[in-house]
Amino acid sequence: MNWNELKATFGPTIAELQDEDRFLGFSATFDDMLFDYSRTQMTDDAREGLFDMLEEREFELIREAMYSGEKINVTEGRRVLHTALRMPEGTRMMADDEDIAATVLDSRAACYAFADAVRSGEYAAAAGPFTDVVNIGIGGSDLGPVLVAEALVADMDGPRLHFVSNVDGAALNQVFQTCDLSRTLFIIASKSFGTIETMETAKMALARMQDEVADASVHFAALTTKPDAAAEQFGIPAQRCFGFADWVGGRFSVWSPIGLPLMIGLGPQKFGEFLAGAHEVDEHFRTAPLGQNLPVLMACVGVWHRNGCGYPTRCVVPYDTRLATLPQYLQQLDMESNGKRVTVEGDEVDVATSPVVWGSAGTNAQHAYFQMLHQSPTPQPLEFMIAAKPVAEGFEHMQKILIANCFAQSQALAYGRSEKEAEDLMIEGGMDPIEARELAPHRTFPGNRPSTLLMYRELSPRTLGRIIALAEARCFTEGVFWGVNSFDQWGVELGKVLATDMLPHVEGRFSPDMVDEALSGPLAHYHGL
Ligand code: F6P
Repeated sequence: MNWNELKATFGPTIAELQDEDRFLGFSATFDDMLFDYSRTQMTDDAREGLFDMLEEREFELIREAMYSGEKINVTEGRRVLHTALRMPEGTRMMADDEDIAATVLDSRAACYAFADAVRSGEYAAAAGPFTDVVNIGIGGSDLGPVLVAEALVADMDGPRLHFVSNVDGAALNQVFQTCDLSRTLFIIASKSFGTIETMETAKMALARMQDEVADASVHFAALTTKPDAAAEQFGIPAQRCFGFADWVGGRFSVWSPIGLPLMIGLGPQKFGEFLAGAHEVDEHFRTAPLGQNLPVLMACVGVWHRNGCGYPTRCVVPYDTRLATLPQYLQQLDMESNGKRVTVEGDEVDVATSPVVWGSAGTNAQHAYFQMLHQSPTPQPLEFMIAAKPVAEGFEHMQKILIANCFAQSQALAYGRSEKEAEDLMIEGGMDPIEARELAPHRTFPGNRPSTLLMYRELSPRTLGRIIALAEARCFTEGVFWGVNSFDQWGVELGKVLATDMLPHVEGRFSPDMVDEALSGPLAHYHGL
């Protein structure tokens, strides 16, 4: 099938597609997890066509190439082996002459040992065991750890975790104000060890710690592919520089030493459960037939919405406050991976690629932007997520209200309410018929707005590992559909270079007339403030 043929299958409404087999035919399960896409406009023909497209693109071959460590990130000449990071102990894996399993398991063991030592107080500051751990990192060196720390806050029993990502000083200043710095450990997390935000923030933290304690280096560890640079620039001894290989992509790195703050906060055992959940999904993604393969189906729905139906965004709404930062995490995962305009071969992609990913936790989202989702002329597909079980005993009734809201939104979006129904309801409620007629257009819901649902029993470390691994595998699959390299990010380079060139102007070392008209105005204004 080609893209035009896919578009031609778009037509029947969600209501028209419903029959007694719809749910069974358009849902799939993986253990306790349900992926329900029955309330979308996906037809049998569209789904068959999407499976054909995957076959034409040799999806299974590319997937196997990824798992086996071929250098599928061709523009950077790198393997893509985040799946190897969650391999269980005892696994053997070689890629060419590189013993991937040994690299992963040794690095994991070193991180676990350090995490245990910090948690037990065996590795401590002069003032006593560490009470606070501050991760300094940005992008993939921040978003994954933040997501997991927030989602699993109830499982945390180690030192308090803090995350400082931006160079604007606000978050670091808060750390300075609220933490007992004499018992605070700073972790500098940067794959490249060259990201300006992270480097400048870390320098600021080091300078402050040199004023606070006799031996600041005790308070620092580093997570990077360049441990030598960490040792040289920050004086961090080798045993606290946790290295990893360049085949760990930044946005796929939470499973690597980048997860060290989580290992400290959760402890190695729970972190291991998080890895195990992801590994289960890796096995499922690698072996399940397309029609029962959750990430493949999620990708098919994603591509269907983007390229079959033409929807420009996807709104992710976890009815689970613990996953409130998941949409942000997915923004990097999906938009940095698949927001590309050329194929792996360098030719222009002939269809739209990554949609805009956005969203936030429900039900709060209902009281913010759901108005637009229900009644704006431009429909946007939604992706709901919900746990069956409440966060703790005693919250059963509240969880049922949450679930009822989630289901109700999906029904309202799918089936809406006609103008006639709205009018009749108002009249039944005792409203004057003329007033009811005038008000009816405002109270009409067009419906036929698609949504999917991912339901799981409870949000444990294992479930969270599964959820993130599902998202990664979906992202990979969508990249195969579009033919792009999902593992580079050249689109972030230009801004970085220009920011470096811009600094002297901002510092006032060059005169404003050395830049073009459009910039000299704001620069002059800035210097006048
Ligand atoms: O600027 C984008 C990016 O390179 C992301 O891909 C990455 O996750 C982030 O910056 C941080 O990079 P690093 O871990 O090398 O500091």
